[in-house]
Amino acid sequence: MPTNNKLTKQIYNSILICLIAFSFSSCYYDVIIEEEVDVNTTISFSEEIAPVFKSSCVSCHDGVIAYPNLSSAHAYESLISGNFISTGNATNSSLIQKLNDKHPFEGAVTNAELQKIILWINQGASDN
Ligand code: HEC
Repeated sequence: MPTNNKLTKQIYNSILICLIAFSFSSCYYDVIIEEEVDVNTTISFSEEIAPVFKSSCVSCHDGVIAYPNLSSAHAYESLISGNFISTGNATNSSLIQKLNDKHPFEGAVTNAELQKIILWINQGASDN
């Protein structure tokens, strides 16, 4: 029965489209929640960026195991002198390129943390 087959196929396709649409909408929702960083606030290096390095990076980046030294007392100086930051231009900053390559592993920094680091660089990467 060709007509019935066609109907079955149409129903199947509609269900598939609903499932796909649903999974996209839930992903979209997750991303929005995570990336909620207010672009109108000034990001403070000492209060918002250094603590991220401390919890996610310093276990290796202590200046002995891996360079740059990202411990709070050295992070700013190490990043600037090592040319890991292109002031005002996060896209050209090797720090961001490294993090976008999922270094040290996927999820080590959250999306919101990454957005803050990007914003801080684009705001001029001050030692604030
Ligand atoms: C498990 C240990 C480990 C952790 C945790 C880690 N790193 Fe690294 N990182 C390394 C090692 C080892 C290298 C050198 C080899 C390489 O480039 O992957 C490196 C290299 C780098 C480089 C490039 C250095 C260069 O000279 O080119 C940057 C920038 C960097 N890491 C930033 C970070 C940041 C920011 C974090 C925290 C979000 C982090 N790393 C967490 C081990 C680690």
